Amino acid sequence: MSVHDPLPIRGYDHVEFYVGNARQAAHFYEKAFGFTPVARLGLETGVRDRASYVMQQGQIRFVLTSALVPDHEIARHCALHGDGVKVIALEVGDARAAMDVVRGRGATILQPAQTVADEHGELTTGVIAYAGDTVFKFVQRSEYRGVFAPGYAALDVSAAAPSAGLVAIDHIVTNVPLRQMEFWAGWYRDVLGFTQLAHFTDADISTKYSALMSKVMENGTGKCKFPINEPAEGLRKSQIDEYLESYCGAGVQHVAMTTGDICATVRRLRERNIDFLRVPDTYYEALRDRVGAIDEDIDELAELGILVDRDDDGYLLQIFSQPVQDRPTLFYEVIERHGSRGFGVGNFKALFVSLEREQARRGNL
Ligand code: FE2
Repeated sequence: MSVHDPLPIRGYDHVEFYVGNARQAAHFYEKAFGFTPVARLGLETGVRDRASYVMQQGQIRFVLTSALVPDHEIARHCALHGDGVKVIALEVGDARAAMDVVRGRGATILQPAQTVADEHGELTTGVIAYAGDTVFKFVQRSEYRGVFAPGYAALDVSAAAPSAGLVAIDHIVTNVPLRQMEFWAGWYRDVLGFTQLAHFTDADISTKYSALMSKVMENGTGKCKFPINEPAEGLRKSQIDEYLESYCGAGVQHVAMTTGDICATVRRLRERNIDFLRVPDTYYEALRDRVGAIDEDIDELAELGILVDRDDDGYLLQIFSQPVQDRPTLFYEVIERHGSRGFGVGNFKALFVSLEREQARRGNL
């Protein structure tokens, strides 16, 4: 049976971050995370108010953008939120049609469909409002053959740092204030036409002190998955509350990226000083009984701090970084899926104990 999807999404196109210093952020994403800077825009390309670096690894594309002048939307965004995700861009076959569909479904239009062109072809985009100051962008790039978008200059990639083996974006998680999860789940359903993949309540995801609730929305092909978290009643401030206070509102909590060899990827990231959350050693003592047979060596997983979870479809391996800026806001997940389409619910409790330890160190628990 084929059902006509009026808003077919091909996948993640890119994620754009507004940061205080794009040049230094690009260095971090290259040298620590293994991304290759492939394109740039700024003063030397004739842009006077901002600078952007396009960073690529596998199919993952990050854009790092800073303001060059003080009275600028990007500068104000950074002053309020710190470094963080501004744009979640999805690739579509027809951006104009996508914008017509979401306009009809009540989206707040921030930039109507617009086509820009250069000698490499044309690119059409449109932007709609999402939670907090975060936005969604539709990108139609089938008629564009340049490195990223008109206006960007390609960079010499011959001397780039080696990849860490990251392949694709798996899911992007948003934190929203108390009692707004339902609204945003409905927004994904009604505006983007997504369906609900999973629902976690505070019974699944709680410790004695802090809790959260989560709904996971996915597009028709299952390629794009967006969990939405809200804090739940706990004895103390939850990690979601800490994020919302630190980011000054709703925003992207973490981006999960897949790898084909999580042990090699995490080893490389650790060598380059990416810090990860550590669960207690007792986690690995119980692991064999909990998840049964897996291909990986449990001693190696324990050495690297990689977590395992199993469900009816298979298992997954995952690990979470510490926040990648001084505010305890955005962090990363590295994930390797062996059949499981889940999010590691079996690891939530161990992770929360570890997260609460970090919150306490920051004086936020
Ligand atoms: Fe995740």
